[in-house]
Order: sequence, then structure tokens, then C-alpha cells
Amino acid sequence: MRVKTKYGALTTFLFLIIHTAFALEPIEPIPLVQDVDPSKVALGKRLYFDQKLSSDGSISCASCHDLDSKYGTDLLPVSTGVANAKGTRNSPTVLNSALNFRQFWDGRADTLQEQAIEPLTNPVEMGLESMQQAVAILSADNDYVSQFAQIYADGITPTNITEAIAEFEKTLMTVNSPFDQYLRGDANAISAVQKRGYQLFKSYGCTACHQGVNVGGNMFQKFGVLKDINLRDAQQQVDLGRYQVTKNEWDKHVFKVPSLRLAVKTPPYFHDGSAATIEDAVNTMIEFQLGREVPVEDRDAIIDFLSSLVGDLPEI
Ligand code: HEC
Ligand code: HEC
Repeated sequence: MRVKTKYGALTTFLFLIIHTAFALEPIEPIPLVQDVDPSKVALGKRLYFDQKLSSDGSISCASCHDLDSKYGTDLLPVSTGVANAKGTRNSPTVLNSALNFRQFWDGRADTLQEQAIEPLTNPVEMGLESMQQAVAILSADNDYVSQFAQIYADGITPTNITEAIAEFEKTLMTVNSPFDQYLRGDANAISAVQKRGYQLFKSYGCTACHQGVNVGGNMFQKFGVLKDINLRDAQQQVDLGRYQVTKNEWDKHVFKVPSLRLAVKTPPYFHDGSAATIEDAVNTMIEFQLGREVPVEDRDAIIDFLSSLVGDLPEI
């Protein structure tokens, strides 16, 4: 009995130490398995790739969030929608977007389902007049009518369309990155430079904002905390970010901190696509978010660490 108790106490003690040490890591691995409904995923996937859901039949979600070769973005500064219309913001990746606490650069949508309404009805994206038009388009297709009927008692509705798309998006995770393998205990999964880059990423304070399972995507922050962003933006039309949603003075230049999971793969950078390379983007972060000087070899080690965050592309 006594031995057992002692052993139990030791186990608890070790558990606490390990648990505390693990919890102190500012980044967590992406879960390997997603809890989704396969029939909704199949329907959502079809909708995601369907150009019929645009006013001129030329644009689908995949036009601006290409899953084949562009890591869920279009790799352009700002996107092109129906009739060659240009938007004003850079297209973020849809990969791992289910892990973000809000959607859009200014966080104006709370969920993926709420998010999906906007591109469908945005005049410079897919250009439909309303969600009712989406319902009408799909209702004219017998395949869709029966596919919806198999899943939803009320058939084709705006809510069911966006729910299915969101369910598909939940499967778009890049699991098993070298860095996640390292976090799970494989000390050799990343290189010595990447380990150093991770230490620098923490010690310079990048993790104050880029943290959690998506290495970002879990808070709002001001762009230009330590140096006035107007110094950078003087020549450009300024996007006030979250202020446009809340009209609170303190939300001027505030944006959702983007995920860095696929950053090395998805140039150009920032809400306006103004940084062409990852080096430019990190230089701007160092200047405006940290307000300090960082030696080039430290910056490059951080970028090397960022490349260890890229996981396997989902099978589509
Ligand atoms: C014409 C290009 C275009 C099309 C088409 C498009 N998007 Fe987007 N998407 C964008 C841009 C640009 C943003 C950022 C807009 C903003 O933040 O104000 C965005 C943002 C998002 C986000 C938020 C990601 C994040 O990290 O905040 C998701 C999710 C998303 N789109 C999914 C979709 C889905 C689903 C569809 C199809 C129903 C779609 N998009 C169609 C360009 C497009
Ligand atoms: C005080 C918060 C904060 C700190 C500290 C910070 N960032 Fe950021 N980071 C942001 C915000 C906010 C954005 C989005 C800015 C925008 O586009 O408006 C961003 C954007 C980025 C981007 C562009 C991502 C994309 O997809 O466009 C990269 C890369 C980046 N940060 C890397 C870093 C690195 C590396 C560090 C440390 C050297 C760092 N950040 C420190 C808040 C921060």
C-alpha cells in the first residue's frame, strides 16, 4: 500500500512537471484527426470547386484559394473576382483556417459558415445577388437536389450550403509538419538552425502574437505597435482593419494576427499584399512590431524555423 501511494505521488509529480513544461510551449501541434461528417464534406467539396456559383460562371472558391499548387491562396497581392474585378485585400489561405478564432483579416465573421456567405455575394468575388440566387442555381441541378436531400431534410437552403462548405474546409489541415513532429517528441525532426530559429522566434517576442495551434489566428493586434504604421503606409490608401467593423478608435490598424503555418509558401504578405517576400515581411515585423534591430543571421534562422511549420497537404 505504502509503496503504491509513494509511486502514485511520484507519477503525479512527474505528470505535473511534464505537463507544465509542455503547456509552456507557445505552439501546439495540429490534431491529426478532424471530426467531420463525410457526406457533408463531399458536398462541400463539390460546392467549393463549382464555378456555377458565380454571376458569370467563371469563379469558384478555388479560384482565389487554390488547393492544387498554391497552398490555399492565389499568390497575388489582391484577388481577381468575376469580370476581372479586383478586391482590396490579400487572400489568406483556407488551409488550417478552421483553427482561427475568427475569419477575415478584420475578424468580421465568427465562423467558417458565416464567412462563406460573403464571397458568394460579394460583387468583386463571386458576384451572386443573394444566397437565394445560390439556392436557385443549385436547385436547377438534379444531382445537387438529390445530394442535398440525402443529407438535409430541408434540402437546398442558404444555411445548408454554407454548412457543407465549412465542413469541407475543416478537413483542410496541414498535419504532421516537421515542427509538429518535433513538438510530439522527435528531436531530430527539425534541423539545428530551425531549433535556433524557434528559440529566437520566442526570445524576440514573435510568440506574443503568433502562437497557439495555428501559430497565429487567435487574437487581434495593431499593425505598427512599436512604430507608427503610417510611416509605411503614407503612399497608400490605408485600410483601418478592425476599426471598419467596430468603429472604436483603438481598433484603427488592428488586424487578426495571421497564421504562420504556411507563411513561407504564401507570398505576398500582409492584408494588402504589400510585402513581396518572406524576408520583407519579417523585416517589417521586426521594425514595426518589435521596434528593434535583429541581425540578418537571426532573421534567416527564424525564417528557417517558419519553413518547419509546413505540414502535409490534405488529400483532395
Ligand atoms: C475573388 C477571390 C475570392 C473568392 C472567389 C473567394 N475568396 Fe475567400 N477570401 C478572399 C479574400 C481577398 C479574403 C480576405 C478578405 C478580408 O479579410 O476582408 C478571403 C478570406 C477567406 C477566408 C478567411 C480566412 C482567414 O484566415 O481569415 C476564408 C475561410 C475563405 N476566404 C473561404 C472562401 C470560400 C469558402 C469561398 C467560396 C465560397 C471563397 N473564400 C471565395 C478571396 C476570395
Ligand atoms: C505585436 C504583435 C506581433 C508581433 C510581436 C509579431 N507579429 Fe507578425 N503579424 C502581426 C500582425 C497583426 C500581422 C498582420 C499585419 C497586417 O497584414 O495587417 C502580422 C503578420 C506577419 C506576417 C505576414 C503573414 C501573412 O500571411 O501575410 C509574418 C510572416 C509575420 N507576421 C512574422 C512575424 C515574425 C517572424 C515575428 C517576430 C520577429 C512577428 N511576426 C512578430 C502581429 C505581430
